[in-house]
Amino acid sequence: MLVTGSDILVPARAGQYGVASFNSNNMEITQAIIHTAEKLRSPVMVQMSEGAIKYGGQDLANIIKDMANRASVPVALHLDHGSSYASALNAIRMGFTSVMIDASHHSFEDNAAETKRVVEAAHAMGITVESELGRLGGIEEHIVVDEKDAFLTDPDEAVRFIELTGTDYLAIAIGTSHGAFKGKGRPYIDQARIAKIGEMTSIPLVAHGSSGVPAEIVQRFRGAGGEIGEAAGIDDDDLREACQHGIAKVNVDTDLRLASTVGIREVLFANPKEFDPRKILGAARDVMAQVIEHKLRVLGSVGKA
Ligand code: 13P
Repeated sequence: MLVTGSDILVPARAGQYGVASFNSNNMEITQAIIHTAEKLRSPVMVQMSEGAIKYGGQDLANIIKDMANRASVPVALHLDHGSSYASALNAIRMGFTSVMIDASHHSFEDNAAETKRVVEAAHAMGITVESELGRLGGIEEHIVVDEKDAFLTDPDEAVRFIELTGTDYLAIAIGTSHGAFKGKGRPYIDQARIAKIGEMTSIPLVAHGSSGVPAEIVQRFRGAGGEIGEAAGIDDDDLREACQHGIAKVNVDTDLRLASTVGIREVLFANPKEFDPRKILGAARDVMAQVIEHKLRVLGSVGKA
């Protein structure tokens, strides 16, 4: 069933498990997410970025909504990194049940004011809101945040921000970054900061940049002719620990990009004569489903729906 973000995330925060929010850009990604969640009786979120809205628009939103409505587990359709009040409202008009307003690159006051405006409008329509405080390293859609300018979320500011805005869930900067290159070895994640913010707040916290970039998938990518540098993601144990301390929504995009490309590459590499899109995209869907299953098990949401 299609539900709001809070319907899914409030129980997750209380039960100390994480709900994955996977980015979708097409039918096969959406099927892999929702069918795997159903198989494992797990709540799940499907998110579209502004880029995905530009690419798939209302057509894709309708596919996700329809599948969510028919799903046997709770599913929310979420706007990832909404850049403005207008963008958040447009998503609500399109039928999203959860929206993010990301004004984290503005001053604290401007971020709080813009977030509050979105919260008031969204709540009037029964939709719940994610906002962000602090900055992630790496690339957030169009915004490139220089490593040295990236700053982590201050616990006292997080408390004040939640009070000022009424945000339903809050993305915090804890050292993670978007993409397949999160640092050498086991990328850093500031557990002490998560624990502190978790103690001082009660709303669900959100971790962006949470792909694991599994070594096996990277190997398969290379094995099927792909080229990729020193890729690394967030360790499974680090995510498990974060969910014990307040992280309830865990954003994953890169892992499905890699998994789908592995599926496509392997079919075409092994059989250059293949040109049936069902064989090609179906393989992508299968590899994504494996990666999704692993993530849902790591986060502990299996059996919670
Ligand atoms: P990854 O690049 O680690 O998948 O993070 C995606 C994300 O945080 C989207 O908001």
